[in-house]
Order: sequence, then C-alpha cells, then structure tokens
Amino acid sequence: MCAELYNVRMHAESGGDHVSGAERMVPAGRVEAVTFELLQRAIDAGSSAISLKVEAVSGPDLVRGALPDLHDVQCGSVAEAREQAVQLLVASGVAPDAAEKALQTIASGASSSGQVMRGAMLVDAATGERLEPDSDRGVRATCFDIDDAAAARLEALLSAAGLHHRRTREALVLASKVLAAPGVVAELCWSDDPGYRSGYVSSAGHGYVRLTPMKEAGDPMGGRAFFVRPGADVEQLVNFLEKQPYLVTEPGRVRQG
Ligand code: COA
Ligand code: AMP
Repeated sequence: MCAELYNVRMHAESGGDHVSGAERMVPAGRVEAVTFELLQRAIDAGSSAISLKVEAVSGPDLVRGALPDLHDVQCGSVAEAREQAVQLLVASGVAPDAAEKALQTIASGASSSGQVMRGAMLVDAATGERLEPDSDRGVRATCFDIDDAAAARLEALLSAAGLHHRRTREALVLASKVLAAPGVVAELCWSDDPGYRSGYVSSAGHGYVRLTPMKEAGDPMGGRAFFVRPGADVEQLVNFLEKQPYLVTEPGRVRQG
C-alpha cells in the first residue's frame, strides 16, 4: 500500500486512569513532528504510561467532510443549559424521553458501575434504548483530523470569537465525523474534566451548539451520547466511527449569542 497519510494516536494514563488522548492524520513527512507534539502533551499531562500508535491510511479510503457551524451560547445556570440541550435534541429528531434519559445517564455516570465511560453511548433516538456493545467502554470516534487550510481558517474564526480552548477545536472535528456517520441523528457531550464546564449538542439541522455551563465546577462526570436513527445498522456505524479515516477540509461558520 502506498500511504498518503498516517494516523498518529496518543493515549496517556496515570495510575491506570485516562489522563490525555489525542490524534492527528498527517503526511509521512510530518509524522515525526506530530508524534513529538503528542508525546510532549502526554508528558505535560503528568502521565505514568504513554501509548503511541502510527497507522498508515490509504488515500482512496479517505472520506472528506465539513465542520458543522458553531453557535456559542452562554446560559444562566446548569439547569438552563441542560434544558436547552434537551430542546435542541428534540428539535433534531430525538424523542423527549430519550433526550432526558441520556442526559440524566451521563450526569449520574453512564458506565455499569456509575462511573464515566471510556467512550460514547449509542442511544436509539426514538426509544432511548442503549445500543453500544459494551456499556463501560462505549464507542470511540477515532481516525480523523482537519487539514491545514481548514484548521487555519477555523483558528482565525475561533480566535475572533474568543474561543481559545484547544478542546473546542478538537471536539468540533470529532463532532463532524460523528455527524457524518451512517445513522447518527445528533450528539450530546460534556467533558468529564472537573474544570471544564462547556458541552454541546450537534446535529445536521442545528449545527454545533456549544452550551455553557453544562455542569457545576468540580463535577467529575461527563460523557457522550450518539443518538441513532431507529433500525440503523449498529455494526456498520461502529465500524465507521472507529475505523473510517475522515478528514475535515471545510470549516463552518462561528457565531455567538
Ligand atoms: N478515555 C478513556 N480511556 C481511553 C480513551 C479515552 N478517550 N482512549 C483510549 N483509552 C484507553 C482504554 O482503556 C482503551 O481500552 P478499551 O478499548 O478497552 O477502552 C485503551 O486506552 C486503548 O485504546 P485504543 O482505542 O486502542 O487507543 P488508540 O491509541 O487507538 O486511540 C485515542 C486513543 C485517545 C487517540 C482515541 O481513542 C480518541 O479518543 N481519539 C479522539 C481524540 C480527540 O480528538 N478527542 C477530542 C475530545 S474533545
Ligand atoms: P472529553 O471531552 O475528552 O472530556 O470526553 C468526554 C467523554 O466523552 C468521556 O468521558 C468519554 O465518555 C467520551 N469520549 C472520550 N473520547 C471519545 C471518543 N474519541 N469518542 C467518543 N466518545 C469519547
């Protein structure tokens, strides 16, 4: 195989706990530099063990996509932000009970032991039934990146809007791949980082709506739910999310208020 791109993935842990994870998809000539960057990021996160993987991506396999438009919304309270999240999910085609249930599940710890999951829940958008094969691991979107031209344009738009956090850019790219996956209707997310309180709902019709604050300061819970059209092929969906190389080549718009 003549590889055009390489997917470089970093996962770091400390005392068995996940502390940092990130990935890039770059031409061969940049593998060394991005590997170094990700390694440095893992070291800066205080990792005791770091895993790095580099996998060739064949050009013809690559799917290209666009970022959803970002709308940054500041809410007066966690309750208000969560209410807006439910309304957005319902407007995107998720049944009200399914939206409420997924939100409550993330808030109370979505794994079988009431902890944070290692990936996302798959949720039937009509019934709220959980469809992921393993409710502790969940499903992880991986093998994606944004190309340099789109990244530069995105950076300028985010900077102009005062959105400087690296998470915003990375979550937006992840959300683009999730929305491109066969059968996905919408995504709900907020971080498990106790110090990071923004979250989002994304969908094809409403774009990526960043909501703050989705949780109280110090709250260690967080997670993701990918809402799935009833009857969707779950195996095909998981395969796309975890294996399909995906490159964002078009940034979306950014607006506030
Ligand atoms: N959270 C918790 N544990 C994680 C994890 C995560 N995000 N990613 C990996 N792990 C741990 C798990 O124990 C996992 O075992 P499991 O598959 O039984 O859960 C183990 O590491 C190996 O995971 P694997 O999927 O083989 O790692 P990878 O090196 O192929 O990819 C990541 C790791 C972190 C790069 C990838 O999972 C990922 O999340 N990519 C997206 C990163 C990103 O841009 N996130 C944006 C967030 S705003
Ligand atoms: P983070 O935004 O990194 O704090 O992640 C928030 C939650 O999303 C985590 O607690 C996991 O449940 C889930 N998650 C993390 N990485 C992924 C991924 N690559 N794909 C799907 N879900 C993820």
